[in-house]
Amino acid sequence: MAERKVIAVFGATGAQGGGLVRAILNDPEGGFAARAITRDPASPKARELAGLGAEVVAGDVDDVASLERALVGAHGAYFVTFFWAHFSPEREKAEARGMAQAAKAVGLRHAIWSTLEDTRRWVPLTDDRMPTLMGQYKVPHFDAKGESNAFFTELGVPTTFLLTSFYWDNLIHFGMAPKKGPDGRLAFTLPMGGKKLPGIAAEDIGRCAYGIFKGGSEHIGKTVGIAGEHLTGAQMAAELSRALGQEVVYNAVTPAAYRAFDFPGAEDLGNMFQFKQEFEGDFCGARDPVVARSLNPELQDFRTWLGRNKHRIPIE
Ligand SMILES: NC(=O)c1ccc[n+]([C@@H]2O[C@H](COP(=O)([O-])OP(=O)(O)OC[C@H]3O[C@@H](n4cnc5c(N)ncnc54)[C@H](OP(=O)(O)O)[C@@H]3O)[C@@H](O)[C@H]2O)c1
Repeated sequence: MAERKVIAVFGATGAQGGGLVRAILNDPEGGFAARAITRDPASPKARELAGLGAEVVAGDVDDVASLERALVGAHGAYFVTFFWAHFSPEREKAEARGMAQAAKAVGLRHAIWSTLEDTRRWVPLTDDRMPTLMGQYKVPHFDAKGESNAFFTELGVPTTFLLTSFYWDNLIHFGMAPKKGPDGRLAFTLPMGGKKLPGIAAEDIGRCAYGIFKGGSEHIGKTVGIAGEHLTGAQMAAELSRALGQEVVYNAVTPAAYRAFDFPGAEDLGNMFQFKQEFEGDFCGARDPVVARSLNPELQDFRTWLGRNKHRIPIE
């Protein structure tokens, strides 16, 4: 049997990378092996991956030397950065630069860079429809990723640029569950007006990435956008009502109201939702569920995801 191609996966103990590691391990005849990169190979999550059959290797995206060590001998790598761990677009760009340089240094055959749009291509800093943040960004956690695409292209790293979507898992982990209002009714707050939001089960991102590695050269040099389904806030609220067995109303706050919410990153996210609303055609158009399903036949729509995860949504 031909030797299996090793895919080094950053964020392996997290959402995107974890989905990819499990997709590789679930397909033992697929010709690929999973190398899970973690800062702590002794952590329970890392041990669990090792137990499932992954090679577990230490690496830290802020330590450039560790990146190269983690990539040696790999055919491919999944590169993702962790904006919400530090809220710094500068740090995110430095991490992406380090990843691209390490990929070049070891002669990687296929990189996937988990990216998002540089929204300044649509909303230049001079455009005051939304505030400029941190001096040079409109949506810092998008812009830094989009700007970082150039690190991969300029170095000639064979890369697929993966445009991800809003995780429906944000309803579980990111404080976006429906909440009881003063009238006692559950309200799902989303600043999307009547526009559609491309969403996806976080686990499906990694499964789609696996499809990209399996497709090989077909996807190198290309941008691939994925979503499970495009839904309006009202449609999401209707699906939530159905799944939870109680009415959930859609609370369509404005992006400006969202920016003023009192949690870290609210301005960034308010600008992000405004961008998604105002450029709905481009944003949805770049994320085709048909493409995602061709890469990952198990792709879930929102109803399917809710059926499996509704018990994990914290309802207060
Ligand atoms: N939430 C959404 O809707 C959404 C949608 C699209 C894109 N995104 C983007 O997704 C990215 C995060 O990906 P994710 O959700 O898969 O992350 P995640 O679930 O938070 O996973 C983070 C994992 O990354 C590892 N990690 C953190 N810092 C690290 C470092 N310095 N070096 C190496 N590994 C590190 C940690 O593993 P160890 O502790 O084991 O090292 C952790 O388990 C963000 O940049 C965000 O902008 C999010």
